[in-house]
Amino acid sequence: MDSVSSDLEEYARRRMKLAGFSVIGYDHPYFAPLDRLRSDFRARGDELTTFANYDYLGLSEDERIRKAAIQSINEFGVGVGGSRLVGGERTCHRALEYDLAAFIGVDDTIAMVSGYGTNISLVGHLLTKGDLILVDDLAHNSLVMGTRLSRATIVEFPHNDMERLEEILKEKRSHFRRVLILIEGLYSMDGDVPDLPKFLELRNRYNTWLMIDEAHSIGVLGKTGRGITEHFGLDMSDVDIVVGTMSKAFVSCGGFIGGKQIVIDWLRFTLPGFVYSVGLTPSVTAAVREALDIISREPWRIDKLRENSRYFAERARSLGLNIGDAIAEGVIPIIFDTSEKTMIAGRALLRAGYYVPPIVQIGVPKNKPRLRFFLNASHTKAQIDGVLEALVAAMDPSRQRAQFSSKHGGPATTPKNVVRLVDTDADTSTGTARAR
Ligand SMILES: Cc1ncc(COP(=O)(O)O)c(C=O)c1O
Repeated sequence: MDSVSSDLEEYARRRMKLAGFSVIGYDHPYFAPLDRLRSDFRARGDELTTFANYDYLGLSEDERIRKAAIQSINEFGVGVGGSRLVGGERTCHRALEYDLAAFIGVDDTIAMVSGYGTNISLVGHLLTKGDLILVDDLAHNSLVMGTRLSRATIVEFPHNDMERLEEILKEKRSHFRRVLILIEGLYSMDGDVPDLPKFLELRNRYNTWLMIDEAHSIGVLGKTGRGITEHFGLDMSDVDIVVGTMSKAFVSCGGFIGGKQIVIDWLRFTLPGFVYSVGLTPSVTAAVREALDIISREPWRIDKLRENSRYFAERARSLGLNIGDAIAEGVIPIIFDTSEKTMIAGRALLRAGYYVPPIVQIGVPKNKPRLRFFLNASHTKAQIDGVLEALVAAMDPSRQRAQFSSKHGGPATTPKNVVRLVDTDADTSTGTARAR
């Protein structure tokens, strides 16, 4: 038993190193409990500003949403004790699904306990042998994992490369019965968008289906936050199937699928991640319904998010920072050339009162580490100016050298839960750049 366990430990140690742990070292800002960070800063008379959270519309602390969730617990309880198919159904579930459908502009939706799980289950379930799935090579890990589950043939196309996608379609379309193209509405690591009109044109010309993951685009893109279709002045009914999460603009958790009535009816009876999983906890249904209501009644939140995003992007560019292809809507990365510099900058920002966890190795190509900023409707211009000024200061080469060589003891102001950054023997030759 001992030897089995130590084998596993050794294996885990090696796999962890491969996954990038040798780069991030022990003094990393991951898993930092935000409540404690905040209270530590407050105790010193400072404020912590987070750019780490996809609370795009500034609703995460909203009293009305909390109240709705609590009221729902009082009415329905905490859990529902079963799959919705067989005993877990409550009236609040369909009410949420109708509200989501009305908001995004589809016939119907189905809501599930996890956004990640929704994608895996749906992509794994939709198509089968003899079919083809074409997936953008920067698509979210949950979509990629779904393709691995599917029995269809999978082909990745280079991110947003329409010419390459068309070449693949020309070459392969006739060999497969059905073809599904998988893209995102707003890419979560780069903040860029697909050319939706062109995707739809190819979809029509090559007789394929188009599925869009709108996790980051709903509530963010378009005048009223309806997502990528509104961004391009198109109609959601143009898209075959849409998925989203309730963890971003809707500040709760869970995933949903939207589409034509018969498609959603079919999934309601057959989708494994729905049929074989518990129904959403009622407090989530109430919180999301309240968020939907607030978003519709307070459109200024979307305008403010847009204004903040544009301001951040303009200021960042004017300071010579690299924001890649971000279109300045909600998510904007600052791209670095090495993981070490990214880690050091993230740590310096935290010390200055801004939480922006570095994204290195896992989630992005290893030669494009970044600090990913989620802007929100509650940020002030002073906070945006402040974080960018602190970042420019942190990127000063002389400062970076000084910080990198301080092996034996972080500054006295390092928050309690962030352990000291040790010098790393950076192993950038390995890693899981694809594992978003
Ligand atoms: C594009 C995309 N799809 C799906 C998900 C999974 O959603 P959730 O975190 O709500 O499970 C994420 C998570 O961040 C995402 O970025």
